[in-house]
Amino acid sequence: MSLIENIKSAAKGKYKTIVLPEGEAERTLRAADIIIQEGIAKLILVGDRETISINAKQFGLNNIDKAEIYDANTDPRNCELVDLLYELRHAKGLSKAGAREFCKNPLYIGPLLIKLGYADGEVAGAENSTGNVLRPAFQIVKTAPNSTVVSGAFIMVLKDKNFGQDGLMVFADCAVNPNPNAKQLAEIAVASARTAKAIAKLEPKVAMLSFSTKGSGSHDDVNKVVEATKIARTMAPEIQIDGELQADAAIVEAIGKSKAPGSYIAGKANVLVFPTLDAGNISYKLVQRLAGAEAIGPVLQGMAAPINDLSRGCSINDIVNLVAITANQVK
Ligand code: ACO
Repeated sequence: MSLIENIKSAAKGKYKTIVLPEGEAERTLRAADIIIQEGIAKLILVGDRETISINAKQFGLNNIDKAEIYDANTDPRNCELVDLLYELRHAKGLSKAGAREFCKNPLYIGPLLIKLGYADGEVAGAENSTGNVLRPAFQIVKTAPNSTVVSGAFIMVLKDKNFGQDGLMVFADCAVNPNPNAKQLAEIAVASARTAKAIAKLEPKVAMLSFSTKGSGSHDDVNKVVEATKIARTMAPEIQIDGELQADAAIVEAIGKSKAPGSYIAGKANVLVFPTLDAGNISYKLVQRLAGAEAIGPVLQGMAAPINDLSRGCSINDIVNLVAITANQVK
């Protein structure tokens, strides 16, 4: 079975409740129909009940009536959501009237349903920007205990099976933090190793990437990666991690041996941690386009409950797959 088939099969076993805030949209509805039919997750669709029903009929979808619908105009839980949002955000200046307004916004409704225990996770972003999906998630669900930063990892399925573990690698952070400091980078490394193990079933070998290998270059940016490597080792001594390494030293055995002799990661890395969002985001897109790799994600890590953000260019299949991944992330 392929990785994604394994992930779907595990999701079926867990059968968690995932909220889809973009419940009226065509791609979301078509994905929901498949998810329900295959038994991957229970779904809550956020949107106008009548619009959802009309759209489902128009697209010829027969399973949508099995999803729960949260219609902000009529749902009796609306007051509960408003009260919770006000309680969480009034110290930040949110008024009760402001909370009522936000509780009409599906991207706020999703995280509030999770926080209140009605849902286990959320997938959104087919119709909305990353920032608009993440902001309410950060404000309401917040980070997991012992975590201060949320980041986004991609599981890269490479055509060349000589790289990573049988062609599987994890890249991070490719989605959230423009310029993490050393402590944040260390957290991203540890979280990425755990995502690699839990979702991609890898035995993580983490490379902290830089433009320098073991002191070949000197710059504050190199020092940040060296410091992050030290912090990550202290945070999670059980994880195999090394840095700073250039990308070729991290993934090509011969170059790893010559540039970083004695490193147990150089040449064998399957988790690549990038020093900035520029580096991570650009790299995953280049590997996807130039090397024909499949990029699964971003899988958000470090959040108290799983919320994942789709690309606006996503396919129906991408939505189905991300719902399955999200269900697997539920603790
Ligand atoms: N982890 C945890 N919490 C965070 C994080 C983080 N990485 N970043 C912000 N927060 C929290 C803040 O603590 C704050 O909480 P508070 O209001 O309770 O104090 C809240 O989120 C809002 O913080 P701001 O600093 O005001 O965040 P802002 O809204 O400006 O930005 C955002 C957050 C939207 C995620 C921003 O970092 C961003 O735009 N990142 C880049 C996203 C992006 O464009 N990615 C590339 C595309 S994705 C792709 O290609 C796959």
